[in-house]
Formats: sequence, C-alpha cells, structure tokens
Amino acid sequence: MENWFEQNRRNWNDRAAIHVRDEAGGYLVQAFLNGADNLHDIEHEELGDVAGLRIAHLQCHFGIDTLCLARRGASCVGLDFSPVAIAAARDLQARTGLDASFIEGNVYDARDLLKGDFDLVYVTWGAINWLPDIRRWAGVAASLLKPGGRLYLLEGHPSLMTLDEKTPDLRPAYDWRTPRGAPLTMSDDTTYTGDTVRIANPVTHEWLHPISDVVNAVIASGLRIEALNEHERLAWAFSPIMVPVEGRRRMWVLPDGFPRLPLAFSLWARKG
Ligand SMILES: C[S@@+](CC[C@H](N)C(=O)[O-])C[C@H]1O[C@@H](n2cnc3c(N)ncnc32)[C@H](O)[C@@H]1O
Repeated sequence: MENWFEQNRRNWNDRAAIHVRDEAGGYLVQAFLNGADNLHDIEHEELGDVAGLRIAHLQCHFGIDTLCLARRGASCVGLDFSPVAIAAARDLQARTGLDASFIEGNVYDARDLLKGDFDLVYVTWGAINWLPDIRRWAGVAASLLKPGGRLYLLEGHPSLMTLDEKTPDLRPAYDWRTPRGAPLTMSDDTTYTGDTVRIANPVTHEWLHPISDVVNAVIASGLRIEALNEHERLAWAFSPIMVPVEGRRRMWVLPDGFPRLPLAFSLWARKG
C-alpha cells in the first residue's frame, strides 16, 4: 500500500506543478487571484452559506477550492499528501490573505494531523478514487466533525468511471468495484487539464467504489445520511465526446443524442 501511495504522491507532485502554472487555463488560477470564486456549479448550488463555518477540506490539491470556501467567509484547513500542492496552496494563501491553512499528510492520518473539530468536512471531485479503503476514509471524515457537523462529498459517478473514455460510445472497460488489494494501475503521460507538459511520474493506482459501498461506509461511520443526489453534469471533460455547458461554472455534459447517464453524485451526512 505504501508503494501505491508513494507512486500516486509522485504523480500528484508532478500534476500539482502543472496545474498551478495553469497554462491550459483549466483551474482559472488568474481569475481566482483577481477575486473570482471558482467553485463549480453543483457545489455552488448545493453548499448553501458557509460563512463562519470551520471547514476541513480533505485532498485539497493546491488549495484553490479551499481558498474559494474561505472567500465565502469560512475558516478552512486543507490537507493533501503532495508537498508540491501544499507549497502552492500556501503561496496562494499568502498572496490572497484568505482564512485558510494547509497541512501535508495522508488523508488516513487526518484526525491526528488536523487540530479540533469541524462544522463541515468537504471532499470533492476526484478524491476517494485514490483510496483503497472507503470505510476507513468515512471513519476519518466522521472523526473530524463536531456534533451536528456535516460531511459533503461530491464525486464523479462510479458507474461512469467504469467506461472507457477514449471510445466514442463509452464502452464498459473496468469492473464496477476495485478490490482493495488490486488497484487499477494506469500510466498517463499528460494530465486531464489539456496541458501538454509530460508527467515525469505517470503511473497511478486507483480504486472504483460503488455508491452502495460509499453509502454503507458513511452509515457505518455513525453519520446520518441526509441527501444522496445524482447529476448529469461533471466538473471535467471525462471523454472527448463531452461538451462544456455554455455560461456555467466549469461543467461538462454528454452530447445531445447520447443516452443520459449519471455523471456525478453528491452526499450530505450529519454527525449526531
Ligand atoms: C483530483 S485532486 C482533488 C482536487 C480537489 N477537488 C480540489 O480541490 O482541487 C486529488 C488530490 O488528492 C490528493 N491525494 C491523493 N491520494 C491522497 C492521500 N492518500 N492522502 C492525501 N491526499 C491524497 C492528491 O495529491 C490530489 O491533490
């Protein structure tokens, strides 16, 4: 497992450096520095007012979403295991002065690494697929919450992730549940933003977690699920056939004429 995490960490170090340079413009870093709020449509619609909340953002990448939550008035701590991502997040914090701090570490160690309890544990877009043990993750998320505090999870839909994004008809390619001991090992020379820079450490290991496994993990953690939603929009162009939603906050959909599929799901769960 250590080796899977280490290879993933090296890959994320490479990608964090590319993403924060943002030559392809996918992360809207300059717009953020100019004062924009970069959260995508779905979380924007579902989140409600976060002003005054203490938020733990797990797998925060280079912190731009964490800082957008802080821009909405929350006090935030972001955690990520990539030192390159955390250094970039701290730099963005220093340049904006927003109320956020950043901690380097594995999400499974978050309870030991983050001080105090939180009103909201925030996990979005491409996080839990890097984790072999979803029950352990849910236990960590629950342990970070105050009584009455809530977990918000928003992810690509695991059913979509079983499909081969390179085939125009999105053919089934992967089993719907990845065994803990046998991750999906991939090698991609470039990252998902469209940047053409080569990744020096291209190998990654991922796990697909069916929605029932996620829901049951959250229930087993003691949290009470308040909502489970599925969405026809996604925060990135999973496949070249997908089209951006004009005028919206960085969302992609399947083209007209393609069967409607769930592309993302979100979940709210409360402690106590
Ligand atoms: C797709 S990014 C998440 C993006 C996030 N939605 C954001 O706010 O930009 C995935 C992140 O998970 C982090 N990560 C992957 N496995 C991890 C682990 N075991 N512990 C902590 N961070 C991890 C990576 O370093 C990367 O920054």
